[in-house]
Amino acid sequence: MIDKVRKKFAEDLKKLSDKQSLEDLRVKYLGRKGELNKILEKVKTLGEKERAEHGRQLNAFKQEIEQLLKDSWQKVKTASRQLAEEWLDITAPGAKPLVGHWHPRTLVLREIENIFKSLGFSVVDGPELETQWYNFEALNMPKDHPARDMQDTFYVKNPAGGEDLVLRTHTSPNQIRFMEKNEPPFRIIVPGKVFRNEATDASHEYQLHQFEGLMVDKNISVANFKAIVDEFFQRLYGPKAKIRLRPSFFPFTEPSFEVDMACVFCDQKGCRVCKNAGWLEMGGAGMVNQFVFESAGYVRNEWQGFAFGFGIDRLAMLKYHINDIRLLTGGDMRFLKQF
Ligand code: PHE
Repeated sequence: MIDKVRKKFAEDLKKLSDKQSLEDLRVKYLGRKGELNKILEKVKTLGEKERAEHGRQLNAFKQEIEQLLKDSWQKVKTASRQLAEEWLDITAPGAKPLVGHWHPRTLVLREIENIFKSLGFSVVDGPELETQWYNFEALNMPKDHPARDMQDTFYVKNPAGGEDLVLRTHTSPNQIRFMEKNEPPFRIIVPGKVFRNEATDASHEYQLHQFEGLMVDKNISVANFKAIVDEFFQRLYGPKAKIRLRPSFFPFTEPSFEVDMACVFCDQKGCRVCKNAGWLEMGGAGMVNQFVFESAGYVRNEWQGFAFGFGIDRLAMLKYHINDIRLLTGGDMRFLKQF
């Protein structure tokens, strides 16, 4: 009888798949009304001698089953842990790889460069650390000029000795650098970092980005300047972005202007961005002063040209409605991830 039950148990054990069926199996064989107790009932009816013998066998069988159940329990446990650990949801969306992206200032600069390239301009580069001559003297700002005041300019000791160097306060020194090596006619823009020794607030940074523009030929006039810059702003901000020029002064241009753009946020009705003026100040410009041509080694009155300097940070802020310039260099990922 034990043999028959043992065979059945072995078969049942093979079918076993999880913790619950293991428990069912235990009840079926070792439970109060289980197979083993059924045998026991029968053993009880036997004669004393036979009873002792069968009782021993039954006990051994019981231990055998308990051991087998214990082993199976271990197996089921390992299998279910494995299942949990190695479980893979093939329908889950994959983890996106981190992809870098352009800084808002770079985005705008690329647009600026593309627009000017399409208008026949080349993009050139120049050093951030300048001599005082390139940054000031060559541009008609002699030693006593107020723009050279310690408050505006970062001076840097020259390791080679001699006069201090400066962190360029504008991109205009590249007018000289380019003209020293090139003959007109030409059209260039020169983007880059510039530095001003001033306190920072929502609209001031001590490190900002500009691009210089310079176009030189025999018969360049203010009309050429206005046409090009009008076209530039309309491509960057849309057809309503017309410009106006206001008289101004720069030592290196004559005449000089401030360039204003019609406020594209309120159609000139007046808003917070333009402080109700209807116009936005975009930068300085003018016809190249003949003094500057001479500094670069050209003959006075042989050439004419216009130059301008616009702030890239300002253009980016207007393009993306950023109201604090410090966000651009702050490195806050919550801000940068929006672009
Ligand atoms: N360099 C001037 C500035 O930084 C801008 C400018 C450039 C003005 C070229 C006239 C011509 O303020």
